Amino acid sequence: MRRRAAVLTLLLAVATGCAELRARFPGPDVLFIATPEGVSVEMLRLAAVTARDVVFDLGSGDGRVVVAAARDFGARGVGVEIDADLVKTSRDAAYGAGVTERTRFLWQDLFVTDLHEATVVTLYLRDDVNLRLRPKLLAELAPGSRVVSHDFDMGDWKPDRVQRVRGPNRNHTLYLWLIPASVAGVWRTRLGEREAVLNLTQRYQTLGGTLSLDGRELAITEGRMAGDQISLTAGGLVLSGRVSGDAIEGRGGERADATASAWTSRRIR
Ligand SMILES: C[S@@+](CC[C@H](N)C(=O)[O-])C[C@H]1O[C@@H](n2cnc3c(N)ncnc32)[C@H](O)[C@@H]1O
Repeated sequence: MRRRAAVLTLLLAVATGCAELRARFPGPDVLFIATPEGVSVEMLRLAAVTARDVVFDLGSGDGRVVVAAARDFGARGVGVEIDADLVKTSRDAAYGAGVTERTRFLWQDLFVTDLHEATVVTLYLRDDVNLRLRPKLLAELAPGSRVVSHDFDMGDWKPDRVQRVRGPNRNHTLYLWLIPASVAGVWRTRLGEREAVLNLTQRYQTLGGTLSLDGRELAITEGRMAGDQISLTAGGLVLSGRVSGDAIEGRGGERADATASAWTSRRIR
């Protein structure tokens, strides 16, 4: 009886240990298939990468996207890869390309990586993995950061641009999203000398709601975020500006004179 209990305890300890190990080092969500070199470069071009960017490739494989970001665009690059051998291959490739100083490769599950430092994220995963990653991208990346995915989209978060690229063996589809600033809420607004209240609803980069001005409630018929840039149409008015936290600064006016007046807003709820 005592022996049985000991065996059961041992089995439980092994099972718990495995669960902990699996939580720390889960298996890959997608297997390694490399993006052709020319297509990697197009992904970085689509994101308009410059030397000011920090490019994270999530599921970085042999490191080619990260190496290209550093070597061809002067950016800093971070690869996140769950396969230890591929991490080693990537570090060797970075050394060979002379970009060790500007690149880092993390042996890590991409779902635990802190993305706050990234200004560009590149992906070649799968549509269901993209969907699981979507809330993390929206929560951790600053407005205006770019996400480029090779071949897989993000469900109802529609891309800001789609580009088809011819590879060595087939056509590839690249998707670009800009992380939209978060603007839902009630904003006290001034357009020139006029006071107004802006009530905004938001679904990713698409905005709706109302503008209450001069005792009238105008529906927002077109509303869009492009990173931190906001544009709205309500009644005959066109407004555009830049969002910074709870403040908007821009210009607005009648459609024919869309920059006639200063437009400022403060979020109050
Ligand atoms: C299709 S390959 C893309 C490689 C590279 N990004 C490219 O475009 O050439 C996907 C890579 O993601 C890695 N991977 C899969 N699940 C992962 C996870 N949860 N965390 C980190 N890497 C992962 C795989 O090992 C594989 O190398």
